[in-house]
Amino acid sequence: MNTAAARPKVIVTGRLPEEVERELQARFDAQLNTDDRPFTARELQEALQTADGLLTTVADRLTAEVLDVPSRRATIIANYGVGYNHIDVHAAKALGIAVTNTPDVLTDCTADLAIMLMLMTARRAGEGERLVRAGRWRSWRPTHMIGTRVSGKTLGIIGMGRIGQATARRAQHGFGMKVVFFNRSRLAPERLDGLDALQCDTVEEVLAQADFVSLHCPGGEETRHLMNATRFAAMQRHAFLINTARGDVVDEAALADALGHGLIAGAGLDVYEHEPRVPAALLEMENVVLLPHLGSATRETRTGMGLMAVDNLSAHFAGQTPPNRVV
Ligand code: DGY
Repeated sequence: MNTAAARPKVIVTGRLPEEVERELQARFDAQLNTDDRPFTARELQEALQTADGLLTTVADRLTAEVLDVPSRRATIIANYGVGYNHIDVHAAKALGIAVTNTPDVLTDCTADLAIMLMLMTARRAGEGERLVRAGRWRSWRPTHMIGTRVSGKTLGIIGMGRIGQATARRAQHGFGMKVVFFNRSRLAPERLDGLDALQCDTVEEVLAQADFVSLHCPGGEETRHLMNATRFAAMQRHAFLINTARGDVVDEAALADALGHGLIAGAGLDVYEHEPRVPAALLEMENVVLLPHLGSATRETRTGMGLMAVDNLSAHFAGQTPPNRVV
């Protein structure tokens, strides 16, 4: 019989869509985070000691030190999100903790947001909105708030995985853009599923051609500060940087410097190296659009992500390999 006492205990580190919380309570002895306050390292360790599994988010820092807690009970971390660079997966693997993620379900919404940031930066949408709200709009004038055309321009994608491809497809089919990209492994044309995109051998080759550079690679040590001062200098001066991937892919001080010196035209950012901290220099700049990590933030996607995480937990506790196991 499936009594409450026999059910696996799951601690959830963030408030989730209602349907997901209901499902968690139906399947597990779930401890929900009803006040939606981020967990401290100590609280994460206590959760690892007292629960069979954790459902975590990108706001949790699961370092080797946090994971390697004495008398650990948890055997799974079901991450609510596709990116898992906030979890030391090597340490988790060594400790025998399974880690799962939620791929695919957020691809379209994140690609939509990348296109939105591209349009917002090019067409000065944030700046225009601030002007109207401040009551500073005087009249329609032919030279007022002139932006940059997006249609027909060249989009450079760094990281041609699921989200990179979905963004490229939108740009090509919706805006007639030419797509060039860099990916760490060579992609056979059939992997691009009909997309007409040119693979470059280096990031620099992409930067030299692109009017918009959109980042879609994972975060973590391998890609940390991939966009640095040298690479900003290699971009075209009229080009824009879009980041919906991970904040640490960009050296934010170098970005602020490049923007300040007019080395690039603008930036659209959804992610930051030390969230929720946004560098003060960027806050001051009119040609930067800043969003609070909203890539997957639609009701449909956030619910889908949660139900995937719940399924991953269920499979694990049933002794099966979870469908989205990372390690
Ligand atoms: C993801 O899924 O990686 C999003 O950035 C939220 O964590």
